[in-house]
Amino acid sequence: MKFLEGGPVRGAIFDLDGVLVDTAKYHYLAWRRLARELGFDFSERENERLKGVSRMRSLEILLETGHYTMSDGDKAEAAAKKNAWYVEYLHALDESALLPGSREFLERSRDGGIKTALGSASKNAPLILERLGIAGLFNAVIDGNAVSRAKPDPEVFLKGAEALGLAPVVCVVFEDALAGIEAAHAGGMRVIAVGKEELLPGADRYIASLKDLL
Ligand code: BG6
Ligand code: MG
Repeated sequence: MKFLEGGPVRGAIFDLDGVLVDTAKYHYLAWRRLARELGFDFSERENERLKGVSRMRSLEILLETGHYTMSDGDKAEAAAKKNAWYVEYLHALDESALLPGSREFLERSRDGGIKTALGSASKNAPLILERLGIAGLFNAVIDGNAVSRAKPDPEVFLKGAEALGLAPVVCVVFEDALAGIEAAHAGGMRVIAVGKEELLPGADRYIASLKDLL
């Protein structure tokens, strides 16, 4: 498999939300529900800023947009409430939420001798992988439960490469968020962005979905 310039690729590390599965809409619905409960609205454009960002940081950005302040205790409660709604929405999730080419590209990578890892900020990753039926397609899963520093820190991807037993230089990361592109580069890995260059500058290649690489 040859889909990137600059030396061999032995490992592929995938972000989850927005790369393999279309969960962004559920995150948005849950955050907007919280915003409305607090008395302000939250647009889809504002929601763009939450992509790739941890749950707590997402809440802080949401509160900033609504010019709303709360204590740390209330923040923990609000984040838990948002997550409960999000998990409830995830019950509607099935294989049809997989983005085009996800399963096929994962399978083809493994058939082609490329090791696969998940590198996601989400603490709900195990549940989502299970519902999508793709948990078995990863050699390693590194998610929000396994890291202490959020993207753009490279921790999640470095742990992914380490779990695959590979050096960063032979790994490629698939990302749909700026923080993720920065994280991958900070870890010494090449990045393929799922999305448009205008919105996601700095990646090594751009695709609309993994289907483009099949
Ligand atoms: C990222 C999403 O993958 O995971 C963010 O792009 C989300 O929008 C983050 O906030 C954390 O997810 P979760 O499921 O742990 O709240
Ligand atoms: Mg993402």
